[in-house]
Amino acid sequence: MIMASRAAPLVLLLFFVAASMFAVDASAVAAAPGVNSPFVLAAARTQRKDPLDGLRYYTGGWNISSEHYWASVGFSAAPVFAAAGVWFAVFGAALFLAGCCYCCCPSRSTSYSRAALVVSLLLLLAFTAAAAIGCAILYDGQGRFHGSTAATVDYVVKQSGDTVDNLRAFSGFLEAAKAAGVGPVSLPDDLKGRIDGVVRRVSSASDELAARTASNSAKIRDALDTIRKILIVLAAGMLILAFAGLVFSACGLESLVYVLVFLGWILVAATFVMCGTFLLLHNVVGDTCVAMGEWVRRPQEHTALDDILPCVDTAAATEALGRSKEVNYRLVDVLNGVISNVTNRDFPPQAPLSPPLYYNQSGPPVPPLCNPYTPDLRDRACAPGEVAGPDAARQAWGGSVCRTADAGGSGVCATAGRLTPSMYAQMVGAANVSYGLSRYGPVLVDLADCAFVRRAFQAVGEDHCPGLRRYSEQVYRGLLAVAAAGLLLVLLWVVHSRERRKRSDAREVELMAPPPPFRYPLEEKALLHSPRRRPYM
Ligand SMILES: *[C@@H]1O[C@H](CO)[C@@H](O)[C@H](O)[C@H]1NC(C)=O
Ligand SMILES: *[C@@H]1O[C@H](CO)[C@@H](O)[C@H](O)[C@H]1NC(C)=O
Ligand SMILES: *[C@@H]1O[C@H](CO)[C@@H](O)[C@H](O)[C@H]1NC(C)=O
Ligand SMILES: *[C@@H]1O[C@H](CO)[C@@H](O)[C@H](O)[C@H]1NC(C)=O
Repeated sequence: MIMASRAAPLVLLLFFVAASMFAVDASAVAAAPGVNSPFVLAAARTQRKDPLDGLRYYTGGWNISSEHYWASVGFSAAPVFAAAGVWFAVFGAALFLAGCCYCCCPSRSTSYSRAALVVSLLLLLAFTAAAAIGCAILYDGQGRFHGSTAATVDYVVKQSGDTVDNLRAFSGFLEAAKAAGVGPVSLPDDLKGRIDGVVRRVSSASDELAARTASNSAKIRDALDTIRKILIVLAAGMLILAFAGLVFSACGLESLVYVLVFLGWILVAATFVMCGTFLLLHNVVGDTCVAMGEWVRRPQEHTALDDILPCVDTAAATEALGRSKEVNYRLVDVLNGVISNVTNRDFPPQAPLSPPLYYNQSGPPVPPLCNPYTPDLRDRACAPGEVAGPDAARQAWGGSVCRTADAGGSGVCATAGRLTPSMYAQMVGAANVSYGLSRYGPVLVDLADCAFVRRAFQAVGEDHCPGLRRYSEQVYRGLLAVAAAGLLLVLLWVVHSRERRKRSDAREVELMAPPPPFRYPLEEKALLHSPRRRPYM
């Protein structure tokens, strides 16, 4: 009786399960081409029915900030969520009714079917095995899924961290350029003022990138850890439940079986919900990968993808690049002016000492520093005899350092040489700053045209997306298998333990009904051990 009334929703449920098997990527098929306005990412893939908009197709493209996007993706997993709801409601009602019947009108049936007992036991064994396999697939899948998501997040965080480090190092060099100079000669004041503005903008851009990356990655990591824990608990719980149910119902421990049925009811519903969540996640991952691919082919300055890895403030990066060239050019120009007009200048031997112009410098001239830019700030190749970089400068200028009488090293040369120790230190420092600024030029170009984001998305698309898609689908299928097997197991526990009770009831009736003829105690004992009385199948 109960079986018959339960059959209809069960069929419905199985239909939902079967339908959701095909729901994966079905959205890609349902898409209409040609609605590709330039700013809509993954437009074709994300066209799904939007329940928040009267089931009209959602056209906003990939945008994880939009509730319509989430609603439409969520709707693609609706069959599984519906299965969870139907199961929860229908089986809950059945449990309640069965509980009432069990308490109020304990019926004693005397007919039992041996075939039903055997078949239900065999099915029980088969579905317990299926549930165990499902749990294994699920456990394996969640491990792989977690590994690949963690690797993806780490990769994006590392890209962003490298960029932040580069930006900070670059502002460090710009700051150092403000202080760089030789003796009283340094950059003009108006340029120093403009440096401050650039440093401020670059710092705020890098701080924002760092903050956004930190908060987004922390949120994603938290969510992934929670999902991982839930999946492990589900897999372990279902496995334990399946075996406990098998043992209890095979031993005929009916009251314990009902406790398990109650737990199974909740666990199966939870598994269906997780299954729907993973179907949703799988579709979002697919959308994201497609969106990244489209963006890489046709980068936009601002898209919804900024939520993952924003292009740094490109205007700031462009301005910083221009300013860095200017600062670099002027700094080297100032330095080389000092070298040609002061350091390498020869004064007549009897000329009076007048630091900082004439400090008794003598000996071979020091080579000038290579200027990486022309006066109109185009790239320039170094001429022979020019030095580039702090190490080359240290080597080329180190031999021209004289000794001074004073301890500070800034006075008058007492020995042959053209650089006092303090001039040498300042000039090497300036060479370092110039080298640093020109080294970060390409990094800034990279930021200014968002090439670093493009590279990151390309790497994610090629190295991480296939794994993410595959493993989210594996987890989804594992969950579906576990949920379906768990659902059937819960029903089979009930059926099998009922059959068992009917049989033992029938036995009791059989033993009691005909008034037993007189027996010797020995005969009674033999009857107890007759094959019909065996407690197990
Ligand atoms: C994404 O959705 C949000 C919220 O609906 C909206 O404000 C934003 O403009 C959208 N972004 C894009 C790039 O469409
Ligand atoms: C050297 O000094 C002269 C005058 O003091 C100046 O006109 C010239 O521009 C300086 N040369 C360099 C390379 O700075
Ligand atoms: C100037 O340098 C020469 C060596 O080139 C040295 O002999 C002389 O003592 C120095 N003069 C002073 C005032 O230190
Ligand atoms: C170059 O300058 C940077 C920033 O001012 C500093 O951190 C670094 O130690 C310097 N390197 C050398 C070789 O002087």
